[in-house]
Amino acid sequence: MCGIVGYIGNKDAKVILLQGLEKLEYRGYDSSGIFIVDGNQNGHLFKEKGRIADLKKIIEPYLFSTSGIGHTRWATHGRPSVENAHPHQSTNQRFTLVHNGVIENFQELKDTYLPEISLTSDTDTEIIVQLISHFSEEEQLTTFEAFKKTVSKLKGSYALALMDTQQPDIIYAAKNKSPLLVGKGIGFNAICSDAMAMIQETNQFIELMDGEFISLTRDEIKIETQDGTSISRETYTAEVNLDDLDLGAYPYYMAKEIDEQPAVLRKIIQAYQNDQGQFQLDTDIINSVISSDRIYIIACGTSYNAGWVGKQLLETLAHIPTEVHLSSEFGYNMPILSKKPFFIFLSQSGETADSRQVLVKIKAMEFPSLTLTNVSGSTLSREADYTLLLHAGPEIAVASTKAYTAQITVLAALSEVIAKKNGLAKESNMAHELGIVATGMESILSEKVFIEQLATHYLSTSRNAFYIGRGVDYYVAMEASLKLKEISYVQTEGFAAGELKHGTIALIEEGTPVIAIITDKDSAGHTRGNVQEVQARGAHALVITMEGLQKKGDQLVLPKVHSLLTPLVSVVPTQLLAYYTSLHRGNDVDKPRNLAKSVTVE
Ligand code: M6R
Repeated sequence: MCGIVGYIGNKDAKVILLQGLEKLEYRGYDSSGIFIVDGNQNGHLFKEKGRIADLKKIIEPYLFSTSGIGHTRWATHGRPSVENAHPHQSTNQRFTLVHNGVIENFQELKDTYLPEISLTSDTDTEIIVQLISHFSEEEQLTTFEAFKKTVSKLKGSYALALMDTQQPDIIYAAKNKSPLLVGKGIGFNAICSDAMAMIQETNQFIELMDGEFISLTRDEIKIETQDGTSISRETYTAEVNLDDLDLGAYPYYMAKEIDEQPAVLRKIIQAYQNDQGQFQLDTDIINSVISSDRIYIIACGTSYNAGWVGKQLLETLAHIPTEVHLSSEFGYNMPILSKKPFFIFLSQSGETADSRQVLVKIKAMEFPSLTLTNVSGSTLSREADYTLLLHAGPEIAVASTKAYTAQITVLAALSEVIAKKNGLAKESNMAHELGIVATGMESILSEKVFIEQLATHYLSTSRNAFYIGRGVDYYVAMEASLKLKEISYVQTEGFAAGELKHGTIALIEEGTPVIAIITDKDSAGHTRGNVQEVQARGAHALVITMEGLQKKGDQLVLPKVHSLLTPLVSVVPTQLLAYYTSLHRGNDVDKPRNLAKSVTVE
């Protein structure tokens, strides 16, 4: 959450910072700001509520700047406003700072060191910059010393960038838990939360680790520890394809990303397939999994919903007992673990703080871990023992779509490889079955016009809705409901169809939309019974089913695929229903209210 950038070099810093912030807007978009230093070494601060486009409107266009820092915010402390927007400044305006993260002890720091200072914002961040100013003045410390001393007092998560008007040609930075990279160029250096922010300027980046401090000039990057020990680290080449960030003819990234799913599946098949057309994965990963007695899948949001489908795959194909847990619950309410657990972290971004706190804890217990992520070099990837990449390409829309189907696809490959290693699923050929799924997805995507009509008819004006299903269809119902609620703001529940009658059916009124997902032949009859029950109480029912199971009157019939892979096709119409409902309601589909793409606070 929140994105930070910093630039020092030959080009106009404000242009580079704004360009970078636009790329980071997925991390938070309730307010933004930049601090820039002009050719006469004077500082200028611009902050605005709303989007980067709103910030651009208040910036003096002819002001050439050589260095600066910028921020796009997802509010944690203090509502979105100009006062709470970053950068924040010390009272004497000498120091200016941007922050991504949460400072847990900001009130204690204020009470201990700055009882007299009156703050101008409600943020936890302002205290950091006031403290730097305090240590610099009271203890006659250099800026770097005051910065280090301040950072040593902070509890929480942070990526910080600091500028001092007395040294306008240096940017200081530090990090703990929140991501931060240095971008290295010729005639400039930069910092950013994500390589995407600077990829237009350079593809050479240096990863920064927790506890490291950076001082950056146009020509030099110095990394050191708190005690001043210098650290040297090679750059790596970021593989971000700028074309992947291009919207093309699409109005929203979500529409583009839904459409990309068949191609993503084919890319995964290609990435993990051997010459015989069978999945083949790193043997160290497989050996580590098969020497465990239980798998724990840890994830949040859509990744958590994908985890449930993964459980089905792992248990059915590989016969390994698998539990699925919400990261935010697991870390602080850990169940009794099996003797030899193996942890799988599912995370599109690889940066989710809730998941990372679990990884830190299970690593301390010396348990093995694997991260499935879309972002190579992300925190969860770096810190887990093993990584499998999703190969989905950048997912920009806040609502996750192609990462969900990519996660299930990689989990299917993993389950099959483990099964075969254990002498199970001998006849299975998931690579082939997933090829059939990709074609099936294409046929659903060709029904967009009809699905848009269904969205208009069933969901455009409703206040609430239900998705219901059993077994794997229930898992998809959970994801379908998250998708619909997060971008359309229709209050939606994904419910186990059989459980409705135990209480929740009381919420069904005349016209309540109930969307039933029916792809499992064994439970189809019972779910149809549940559809009858809600219809008898006035519900407006829509049935999504699969070839071979359809009945007269069903609205959508999906192409038949392998019984373990049905979520990959049944989720697609639900993504489209969410997309069109949001669109018709006039929402910003890609940037729904109150949300951010990468959730880097707990
Ligand atoms: O990057 P991650 O997969 O770890 O993110 C997890 C959730 O924050 C994410 O899936 C979120 O729920 C999306 N908004 C869902 O569309």
